[in-house]
Formats: sequence, structure tokens, C-alpha cells
Amino acid sequence: MKKNILVTGGAGFIGSHLVSALLKEHRVVVLDNFSTGRRSNLPENSQLTVVEGDVSDLCVISQLFADQEFDYIFHLAAIASVMESVEQPLVTHQTNMDGTIYLLNAARTQNKPIQRFVFASSAAVYGAEPTLPKTENSPIQPLTPYAIDKFGSERYVTSYSQLFQLPVAVARFFNVYGPRQNPDSPYSGVLSLLVDAFKKGNQADRVEFTVYGDGQQVRDFIYVADVIQGLRLLAFSEEARDGTFNLGTGRPISLHEVILVLEILTKKQVNISYKAAREGDIPKSYAAITKLEQLGFQVNMPIEKGLQAYLEAELCATV
Ligand code: NAD
Ligand code: UD1
Repeated sequence: MKKNILVTGGAGFIGSHLVSALLKEHRVVVLDNFSTGRRSNLPENSQLTVVEGDVSDLCVISQLFADQEFDYIFHLAAIASVMESVEQPLVTHQTNMDGTIYLLNAARTQNKPIQRFVFASSAAVYGAEPTLPKTENSPIQPLTPYAIDKFGSERYVTSYSQLFQLPVAVARFFNVYGPRQNPDSPYSGVLSLLVDAFKKGNQADRVEFTVYGDGQQVRDFIYVADVIQGLRLLAFSEEARDGTFNLGTGRPISLHEVILVLEILTKKQVNISYKAAREGDIPKSYAAITKLEQLGFQVNMPIEKGLQAYLEAELCATV
């Protein structure tokens, strides 16, 4: 049966992929203030309603829930830039934490019982603590306002399940990449910057790129379609109820190795300029995903396949 599903931040990079997937079977309402999201990320679809509004505006949330009730909520709206949270902690806190509490409260007080409230958290909650791989029980060490608000929101989400029996699930995303990721800031995801560099250097044999540090830093890059697979499991499988899950691939790869894969796929060379490692950069981060796999998750898009799909979407004619 068709469900009515709210996706906050649905016009953004990850949200828009989720919306397209959900629309195959359900009605979807997107709440987005279009600060980084774009209308053009969303499809034309009679089952889609787009509400322009701010999750940190209590009137907006109250009106939205007065107008209709939801079966599922995916809460992705956030100021996703860690640097912005460092520069403007008060403003980002309003969206990244107050917005979560407003939504949770609306979800628990609507008449129809919510079937799942899925919250988009981040591997940033683990901070620089060196134990690897990161399991959901690894020490938490949030280092920035962004990470603190993500962890605070997580605690609100799980406490709403304990106090009010709201069915919830928390997803800790690792480094997500794929089409529609915005490369416009120097602090955008490294793969969006790399693919953009290939786009700009399209006609040249060599592509220019700056690596901060020695290129040996390790990450767990997960293709956006696999993130959507994980989010759907967190919402629709009974076993995910009230759990916290890493959403990664469990396969570590260094930045140098990623650049090599891109060179092989595009048959172009990257001319790397090295600069000092960024302040606070985490040398190695990757997920243990046993918990997610127990829900039936499989990595469908290992890095070579994911980068190929990303390049095809962004540079179609040239790859
Ligand atoms: P994004 O910036 O593309 O998407 C965020 C969306 O939220 C945008 O559409 C934006 O317009 C909207 N938004 C921001 N503030 C809002 C507000 N106050 N009210 C309503 N809408 C608002 O970023 P993304 O990469 O798609 O991130 C989605 C979620 O995943 C975020 O919660 C982010 O923190 C989390 N996350 C992303 C990554 C990653 O690698 N991309 C990693 C960890 C966690
Ligand atoms: C990512 C998240 C961040 C989160 C952290 C937690 C993004 C954009 N950032 O940060 O929200 O707190 O995971 O695990 O998803 N790099 C270069 N050259 C560039 C850009 C980056 O060498 O032009 C390097 C960075 O210094 C870093 C690596 O690439 O070592 C990955 O950078 P980035 O994509 O910004 O992600 P994280 O730092 O892992």
C-alpha cells in the first residue's frame, strides 16, 4: 500500500536520490529551504509535493503536520558543511539540532502512528579516535559543532524511542559520493572535487588536483545508490527498529588509490600538487558494517563501479 513519506532535505544530493527511489512506490513530501538543494534535483511527479520551508521554523513544522500525517520520515535536512558549523555554530545548531527536535515532537504527537523516523547522522561523531574499523560501539568523540549536533540529535532520536515508543533508526553515513554532489566549495567531498577537476580538464591530457597531506589518508567511500539501499532497509525492515547503523562499505581505500582508479577509468593522468594536511584531518576512517549486513545490505557499487557510474553521469560523452 502507498505510504505518505516526508523527506526533509529532499532537494539535496542524497535526499533527491532517496526521493526518486521512494516515488516508485509511495507518495513523497519534500521539505527543503533550498539553501544547498535544488528544485532541478527533483523529478516531475504527481506523487511528489514540494514544501519550501525551514526545519528550524516551528511554525513551518506545525503547519506541515496540521495539513497532513506521515507514515515514515527521513530527516536529512542539515547544514552539511563542517566548516560552516565551525564558522557559524549558532545558525547551524538551529537547523542541525533544533530542527531535529521540532520534527521528532511533531512525529510523536501526530494522530497516526509513525512507522519509522530515520535520522541522517555522520561518521563525524567518531571524531579522530583511532580505533578501526568503526563499529557502532566505537568511542564517540565529536570534534566540531556539526558532529556535536549530529550526536545530540542521535541522542534525541533514540530517547524519543525509549520515552515515547517512537520507532526510529539512525544512519551514520561515511563518505558518500555520486551524481548531484555539489563541488562548489573547497570543503566539498573530495570525490566531487576530483570529478569536477576531470570535467574542467576534459580537453587536456593531465588533470590538476591538490592533495592535502601525503595521499595515504584512508576513507570509506560509499556510492549514493548504496546509501539509498541502506536507508530503505533502516526504514522498512522490522529488525532495524530503534537501532544505530554505520552506512559505509567496510572497504577502506586511500586517496592515492582512488586517484589511480580514476586515472584508469578516464585514461588521463592527475598532476598532483601536495599541500600540508588540513588541520584536524583524520588519517583513517572506515566502517564495520556487520550490523547493516544483518539487515540484508550488500555493497552493489564497489568503488570502481561507483566511480564509473559517477563519471558517466557527469562526463557522459567523454568516458
Ligand atoms: P546537501 O547539502 O546536498 O543536502 C542537505 C539538504 O538540506 C539541502 O537540500 C538543503 O537545501 C536542505 N536544508 C539545509 N538546511 C535546511 C533547513 N534549515 N530547512 C530545510 N532544509 C534545509 O547534503 P547531503 O550530502 O545530501 O547531506 C544529506 C544529509 O546527510 C545531511 O544531514 C548530512 O549532514 C548527512 N551526511 C552527509 C554525508 C556526505 O558524505 N554527503 C556524510 C555524513 C552525513
Ligand atoms: C567527511 C565529511 C565530514 C565528516 C567526516 C567524518 C564530506 C565533505 N565531509 O570529511 O562531514 O565530518 O567525513 O568522517 O563528506 N582532500 C584533498 N583535496 C581536496 C579535498 C579533500 O586532499 O581538494 C582530502 C581531505 O584532506 C581528506 C580527504 O581528502 O583527507 C577526504 O576529504 P573530504 O571529502 O572533505 O571528507 P572528510 O575529511 O573525510
